[in-house]
Amino acid sequence: MRRTGDGYAALLSRGALPALEFISGAGSCFLRTPRHHPDMSASPAHNLSDPETNPARIAVARVAHNTELCREHARLTLAVDAFAPARPGQFVQISPAYDPTNRADGWGASHGPVTPLLPRAFSIGGLRRAGTASEIDVIYRVVGVGTRWMRALSPGDRVNVLGPLGREFPIDASRSKALLVIGGVGLPPLLWLAEALQQAGKRTIAFLGAQTADLVPLTIDAANAPATDASRAVRCAAEFACYGADAVISTDDGSLGFHGNVVAALDAYSRAQTPDANDTVVYTCGPERMMRAAADWCQNAGIACIVCMERPMACGMGTCQSCIVTVHRDAPESGTRYALCCTEGPVFAAEHIVWDDPALLKRQSQPATH
Ligand SMILES: Cc1cc2nc3c(=O)[nH]c(=O)nc-3n(C[C@H](O)[C@H](O)[C@H](O)COP(=O)(O)OP(=O)(O)OC[C@H]3O[C@@H](n4cnc5c(N)ncnc54)[C@H](O)[C@@H]3O)c2cc1C
Ligand code: FES
Repeated sequence: MRRTGDGYAALLSRGALPALEFISGAGSCFLRTPRHHPDMSASPAHNLSDPETNPARIAVARVAHNTELCREHARLTLAVDAFAPARPGQFVQISPAYDPTNRADGWGASHGPVTPLLPRAFSIGGLRRAGTASEIDVIYRVVGVGTRWMRALSPGDRVNVLGPLGREFPIDASRSKALLVIGGVGLPPLLWLAEALQQAGKRTIAFLGAQTADLVPLTIDAANAPATDASRAVRCAAEFACYGADAVISTDDGSLGFHGNVVAALDAYSRAQTPDANDTVVYTCGPERMMRAAADWCQNAGIACIVCMERPMACGMGTCQSCIVTVHRDAPESGTRYALCCTEGPVFAAEHIVWDDPALLKRQSQPATH
């Protein structure tokens, strides 16, 4: 079987992670140095929690906006002082902020049943800087207790933000075209990537799949409707149009754009437009079943594929070992090993992922939260 994207695998295994910097300012605090499980010792993961090299900190952020985007998705914009340099693909961990005025124990009834000890991971969906101040966009789908707490946040509320964490998407100078294959709330990292791709002079096309039209977290231009046969991409989604990117939209029920899943839409587009495999990269984020289908499609088409994996995470920085992804070792004949999604990922070359890993298959059989 042909292996694609070797350049990406090499780039990712060399590590494209920028060093974290201190996040200073009121309310920040040190994180403790973790111990790595011996089974993971062979992993070349960056030790994000080594205070010598990556002294990650928690900063207190202020909610600037919390805006509904569609039936289950919203965008939370957080104002943070002195947020460290970050790139698309990286994520933050969000948790309630300690507030001594809130209640005797400082965590406050407004946090409901959310434990302050377990932050939730969210891709950075956009980042704007003004001097030392930053605004971070997080786009989230309400699926459980933590995201319900986030949905109830109002401007002025404070939350803890740990980050930036994880590795960024590689951008290959030798390829001019990027196809972003998005399942539901896999949108945020690829939306921010679209901005970086525009700055790098790439031509970008976004493929976004959702169950139904009211779960599409984009502003659709009624005068420029998405193609129902997916044979061409149009400037139909304002969030991508501002980065010069056209889009193909698919819905499972056919209520908007192409009737079918997003990989079928990618296939229909490619039959009509035949992208040059040597000049194209696919980036994908969404439910793991969808990413696997996209990776299989890319392998058949001989197109390099980069995936952004979302494993349930507790610490987000290499301590708890809760986020393992089974990957092929660099030499395929050497077998497999566990990688930590939070420090070696969440961005991986698709060819490195062991998609038939039993833990992954179990997750693929569970209902998607995207
Ligand atoms: C690196 C990374 C980036 C992420 N980026 C985003 C993002 O940009 N937007 C977004 O909406 N979500 C994102 N997620 C998923 C997000 O972390 C979970 O949806 C969130 O933690 C759910 O918290 P909850 O308390 O609302 O749900 P819970 O009550 O904890 O769980 C509700 C349901 O969601 C499932 N779930 C919990 N965590 C995950 C997860 N990590 N992946 C898949 N299913 C999960 C549970 O199995 C359960 O079925 C990301 C996850 C990771 C690891
Ligand atoms: S090791 Fe804790 S989330 Fe990855």
